[in-house]
Amino acid sequence: MITRIKPAPTLSLANDVRIPQLGLGTWPMNDAEAAHAVSQAIEIGYRLIDTAENYQNEKGVGEGIRASGIQRSEMFVTTKFNRQWHGIEGARTACEASLKRLGLDYIDLFLVHWPNPDQNRYVEAFQGLVKLLEAGKVRAIGTSNFKPAHLQRLFDLGLVPHLNQIQMDPYHRRDDLVAIHRAKGIITESWRPLGAGNAMQRDPEIQAIAQRLGRTAAQVLLRWQVQQGFVTCPKSSDPLRQAQNLSIFDFDLSEDEMATLDALGRLDPEMFDADRFGH
Ligand SMILES: NC(=O)c1ccc[n+]([C@@H]2O[C@H](COP(=O)([O-])OP(=O)(O)OC[C@H]3O[C@@H](n4cnc5c(N)ncnc54)[C@H](OP(=O)(O)O)[C@@H]3O)[C@@H](O)[C@H]2O)c1
Repeated sequence: MITRIKPAPTLSLANDVRIPQLGLGTWPMNDAEAAHAVSQAIEIGYRLIDTAENYQNEKGVGEGIRASGIQRSEMFVTTKFNRQWHGIEGARTACEASLKRLGLDYIDLFLVHWPNPDQNRYVEAFQGLVKLLEAGKVRAIGTSNFKPAHLQRLFDLGLVPHLNQIQMDPYHRRDDLVAIHRAKGIITESWRPLGAGNAMQRDPEIQAIAQRLGRTAAQVLLRWQVQQGFVTCPKSSDPLRQAQNLSIFDFDLSEDEMATLDALGRLDPEMFDADRFGH
């Protein structure tokens, strides 16, 4: 059974384009799973969908949007391109290919997926995005997994992404990046907000807050994100969990509860490092 939830509130990017504060992540869905999960999520109330060339499900995402019957203008579609396209012409080729797979005629937010500093072409990749923005092929442009030094190379040229999508949750705090984003008017979007598995959701401190509020651990984790002004995109294929993840705009975490979650930050040697990992 589908529960309909009020769509997420929106935030304003620096160019006044509005982005929903919570969307549906689609990794690691294949085309068929994405088509089903996306149309179901839209029926529930999702308006932001997060995909990527690398997920190999853009076709399914586009099918899901069309199957839902929603107007294109009501939706916000984010996709990202791989290292082989880092360059001005490459970004254009990647955009055309994503548009074709999605079956859309514009992308709402197009991101450089990883900086891949070994190849040292992420600045040109972003310059390619600027051209696409000027050409009206995309409504907003950004980066993903950029660390402070990568962003600085853009700032040095007077370039500022509208958004940087990064791994972040109470265990993986990114205070250095968040401070830079706030100073430059960049929206922070988190990926893997639930930690992908269940370890963080089983954390006794998170469980205690969830029980006190009569919410789930996942809802507490997502509320921690949006209450700080971040965008986030949890993945779920399940209609109940999709609805639960969108139902986080009708309660608040107290200052004490936020502080408890903030204090869970720790060093994780397994965390992806964008200076070493990328595609
Ligand atoms: N930019 C990047 O480099 C990057 C990297 C990784 C991911 N991403 C994006 O971020 C999205 C989210 O990250 P993620 O998928 O890695 O991790 P996630 O959203 O933190 O966790 C997804 C996992 O949690 C489960 N789940 C979802 N809602 C739940 C709930 N309410 N209660 C219990 N379990 C729940 C899902 O299972 P069910 O489906 O069975 O509910 C799935 O196994 C991705 O889908 C992708 O779009 C971006």
